[in-house]
Amino acid sequence: MPQTGTTRIWRFGQCPAGNAFADAFTLETGPVPAPGDGEVLIRNEYISLDAGTRMWITPRSDGYQPPLPPGVPMPGLVLGRVVESRAAGFRAGDLVRGFGRWGDHSCVVPAMAALNVLDDTVADPRQHLGVLGMNGWTAYHGITETGRTRPGETVLVSAAAGATGLLAAQIARNMGCRVVGLAGGAGKCRMLVEDFGLDCAIDYKTEDVEQALTRIGGGIHVYFDNVGGPLLDAVLPNMAHYGRVAICGLVATYAAEGATPGPRRFDQVLMRRLSIAGLFSPDFAHRGPEYNALLQPWLRAGRITLPFDITTGLENLLTAYAKLFTGGNVGKVLVKLT
Ligand SMILES: NC(=O)c1ccc[n+]([C@@H]2O[C@H](COP(=O)([O-])OP(=O)(O)OC[C@H]3O[C@@H](n4cnc5c(N)ncnc54)[C@H](OP(=O)(O)O)[C@@H]3O)[C@@H](O)[C@H]2O)c1
Repeated sequence: MPQTGTTRIWRFGQCPAGNAFADAFTLETGPVPAPGDGEVLIRNEYISLDAGTRMWITPRSDGYQPPLPPGVPMPGLVLGRVVESRAAGFRAGDLVRGFGRWGDHSCVVPAMAALNVLDDTVADPRQHLGVLGMNGWTAYHGITETGRTRPGETVLVSAAAGATGLLAAQIARNMGCRVVGLAGGAGKCRMLVEDFGLDCAIDYKTEDVEQALTRIGGGIHVYFDNVGGPLLDAVLPNMAHYGRVAICGLVATYAAEGATPGPRRFDQVLMRRLSIAGLFSPDFAHRGPEYNALLQPWLRAGRITLPFDITTGLENLLTAYAKLFTGGNVGKVLVKLT
């Protein structure tokens, strides 16, 4: 049925300085779009906020995609319901996930949006943006394939209390590894050990990380890195021989324009015969069903979970977004639309 009424959208204007996101986006109101031939109109229920999107609004030409041009509605992963479909395979009422817009609605071409109809019987459908979605797949792929992790090894995870890190840490724990987390703040570190079963956690904001890691003993076999920057420098001299570094993200440098210097302790790649490899979720998103077949039993059994950091109201989205870069979140940052 054609939709009437108004809808809101966050439009990208200019690259923000640091975390001054209010200077970068404006919230606009307009009519609900009518889907064209081959399009689907979605009422967004949750918007997934992802740290990697900070790169899309930073003007650098050598990223994995060109920066967003000013004036476009901000894209992002959404979970919602189809309200009107003019595309084969999608019906009004379907629960869907895909790349939509930071807005009340998303009007998309399913193939371009990587839109999927989802299992509506999952106990908490928000996990389609968590354990059973891009963060879960990235964590699983990074630990098992990029990191080539084996049971009994020592795995270190940075941004360990965030969405991707918390999942990587639990996957490594479930594989029988010794798991160490890096996180900002004593409260987050305590939570990682007491609530998520990590063997220990280091507060990188108050501790000397390089020194603290020497106490672990045996070296780090796999470093699942979400951060880069000075933490990577502190970790490299503490890697075990033949260790693997899975570069999942570099959140410490996403706001930097142009090239950022590589690790100061790059010499350790030779000294310790390390392998360093990046991973990028669109490369393995087609394996989502395969990964979910492994993750879903863990989710059902309570062996993996992901807490949500929920902000209600599209108008409050920028406050939620900033949490990713200030460490204000535990788990997955979502905006719930009313
Ligand atoms: N390769 C891929 O395909 C892929 C897919 C998904 C995510 N990622 C990457 O995974 C990382 C986490 O993303 P996410 O969306 O799951 O966010 P998140 O981990 O939920 O939130 C980001 C966290 O990063 C930490 N952080 C921010 N700035 C930092 C800094 N300068 N130094 C150390 N820690 C810092 C903060 O925690 P603290 O309180 O601990 O500082 C913050 O909570 C990002 O680098 C992202 O790009 C990559």
